[in-house]
Amino acid sequence: MDKLVIEGGVPLNGEVAISGAKNAALPLLCASLLSAEPLTLTQVPQLNDVRTMEKLLTQMGVKRSSGVPGEVTLDAASIDWPLAPYELVKTMRASILALGPLVARCGEARVSLPGGCAIGLRPVDQHVKGLAAMGAEIDLENGYISARAKHLTGTQFVFDLVTVTGTENLMMAATLADGTTVLENAAREPEIVDLADCLNAMGARVAGAGSDRIVIEGVARLHGATHRIMPDRIETGTFLAAVAATGGDALLRGTRAGTLDAVVEKLREAGATIVTDGDTMRVSRTTPLTASGLRTTPFPGFPTDMQAQFMALATCAQGTSVITETIFENRMMHVQELVRLGASIEVEGNTAIVKGVTHLAGADVMATDLRASACLVIAGLIAQGKTTIGRIYHLDRGYEHIEQKLGALGARITRIN
Ligand code: EPU
Repeated sequence: MDKLVIEGGVPLNGEVAISGAKNAALPLLCASLLSAEPLTLTQVPQLNDVRTMEKLLTQMGVKRSSGVPGEVTLDAASIDWPLAPYELVKTMRASILALGPLVARCGEARVSLPGGCAIGLRPVDQHVKGLAAMGAEIDLENGYISARAKHLTGTQFVFDLVTVTGTENLMMAATLADGTTVLENAAREPEIVDLADCLNAMGARVAGAGSDRIVIEGVARLHGATHRIMPDRIETGTFLAAVAATGGDALLRGTRAGTLDAVVEKLREAGATIVTDGDTMRVSRTTPLTASGLRTTPFPGFPTDMQAQFMALATCAQGTSVITETIFENRMMHVQELVRLGASIEVEGNTAIVKGVTHLAGADVMATDLRASACLVIAGLIAQGKTTIGRIYHLDRGYEHIEQKLGALGARITRIN
C-alpha cells in the first residue's frame, strides 16, 4: 500500500492549477444514463472515484470513450443491465446517484444499499422516499433497493433534511417524469447548479438550482450535450489552507472563488491574505495564525469537506479554536492522528477544542477518510521533521496528482510503496 512521506517546514510558493470537481463529476457521469445520445464531459478529474463510477456505468452497457486528456464521452444508447452491484457500491457511496436516472430512463433499477461508512451512518432514505413520491414502487431486499416505474410522475417533495446527492438523484429522475416536480428544502451546493446546467444543456427544464426550491418540468427525452465540469471548490480550499498553514504565497488557477466564500472568510480570520482576480486566487500569509471557530453547515455555510483541513491549520494558531461538525456524526477521526503529531485537541461530542501549539513534530500517521487524509497532508507540511501517512488510497479518491501539485509548490513530498 502506498504511503506519503513529507519533510515539513517548507512554505508553499508558486502556482497550481485546480482540477474539475469530484463531487460535480460523479452526478454528471450518471446524468449520461438519462439520454440515448452521447454526453461529453470536459475537465474530468483523474480520480479513483471517477474511475469507479465509469466502471459502474460501463458494466451497465454505457460506452465510454476518451479523446484529449480530461475529456470523456459516455454513450448510453442502450442500457443492458440497470444494476449497481454491492462490489462497486461498497467502495463508493455515490453509486446511489445511478438510481434516479436508471428508473427514469429504463423504468427499473437495482442498486445496492451503501451501508455505513467511516464518517457516519449516511442513510439514503430521502432518495428512496422521493422516488416513491414520484410513483416508483420500491422494494428493499437482500441489501438492494429495487425500484420500478413505467413512468415517474411529477410531485411536490419536501426533504426532511438537506441532502446533496439526494437532491441530485431526484432532480435527475424528475427531468424525464410526467409533469412538474417541485423539490423543497433542496441542497444549494454549487455542484447542484453545475448538474442543472448540464441537464438543461441536454434539453431538461430545471429552474431554481442553487436555491432551496428546485422546479423541474419533465420532458419526453433528453439529447446529447457537452459540459465543462466546474472547478473543485474543496481542492481549492485545501490548497488555500495548505499555503496559509505553511506561511507561503501561491497563485491558484482555474478556480471559482464564489463557491467557497465561507472558507475564504475563515482563512482570512485565521490570518491569510486571499485576493481573487477572475478565475485565479492568490493566497499568502505573513502574520502568525490566529485561532477562529467554525460550525459546518450545508452550503453556503462552511463545508464539512473542509473541516479537517481547517483543523490542521488551527493546531498551530495562537489561541483556542472551537470546531463543530454538524453534518456527519463521526467526522473527527483525524483528531487522534493530529494529536500524534503534537496537536492539543479535546473532543466533546461533535466539537473539537483545538489549543494552538507552537509547532507540530513529524510522526507516522494513518489516513481514515478522504478529507482526513488531506488534513494530515497539511499537518505534515507544517510539522518539523518527517511525517509518513499510511492508507493514502483515500486521498487518491478525491485529489488529482496531489503530490505532483504540492511538489511543484516546493513541498518535499514523495510517494513510497
Ligand atoms: N442523510 C440522511 N438521509 C438521506 C441522505 C442523507 O439521513 O437520505 C444524512 C446523512 O447521513 C448526513 C446528512 O444527511 O448526515 C448530509 O448528507 P448528504 O446526503 O448531503 O451527503 P452525500 O450527498 O452523501 C455529499 C458529498 C460529500 C459531502 C456531503 C455533504 C458527493 C458525492 N458527496 O455526500 O462529499 O461531505 O455531500 O456536503 O457529493 C467528500 O467529498 O469527501 C464527501 C464525503
